[in-house]
Amino acid sequence: MGESFSGAGELETALYTLEDVLKHSTRDDCWIVVDGKVYDVTKFLLDHPGGDEVIIASTGKDATDDFENVGHSNSARAMMKEYVIGRANASTFPSKPSYSYSGSSTQAAPSAPDRSDLLIKVLQFVVPFFILCFALALRYLAKEERAPKVE
Ligand code: HEM
Repeated sequence: MGESFSGAGELETALYTLEDVLKHSTRDDCWIVVDGKVYDVTKFLLDHPGGDEVIIASTGKDATDDFENVGHSNSARAMMKEYVIGRANASTFPSKPSYSYSGSSTQAAPSAPDRSDLLIKVLQFVVPFFILCFALALRYLAKEERAPKVE
């Protein structure tokens, strides 16, 4: 589907599935998907300031997060336009997990770390306290030994 295109920036309406994108995951034939658009970056790989490896690692999936996490400049975003070959068929890509805490399924998970956090905090006070008591007791006993009470 839409495998042939006549040049950079053209056929922006071509719709590619994840299956299509997966077929172009090599150094010689490299497509990436960012923000719902498909880019053929094969010719750009060697010029990419971040190196070719990172881009190849971002193929075969929605690379929007990878791209955004780097904090690409506006000029990098402008450069991208040159390589657009079409749009990504969103329904063929796995949906991103939601990190919302409103759902009941996410309620149980945070409670376990909370409890161990509390235990660590309590131990932080209790352990030094016992060490101090032990040290004082030793000192008291040592004094008693050196100077036994004379009646
Ligand atoms: C058509 C797509 C892309 C274009 C045009 C592009 C362009 C650029 C440009 C111009 C820079 C230099 C810094 C800047 O101006 O922001 C850069 C850096 C970088 N890019 Fe990309 N990039 C693309 C895709 C990607 C992807 C998919 C990744 C995957 C993680 C990536 C990772 C990086 C990294 C790691 C750097 C180096 C950042 C640094 O050293 O500070 N890029 N890119």
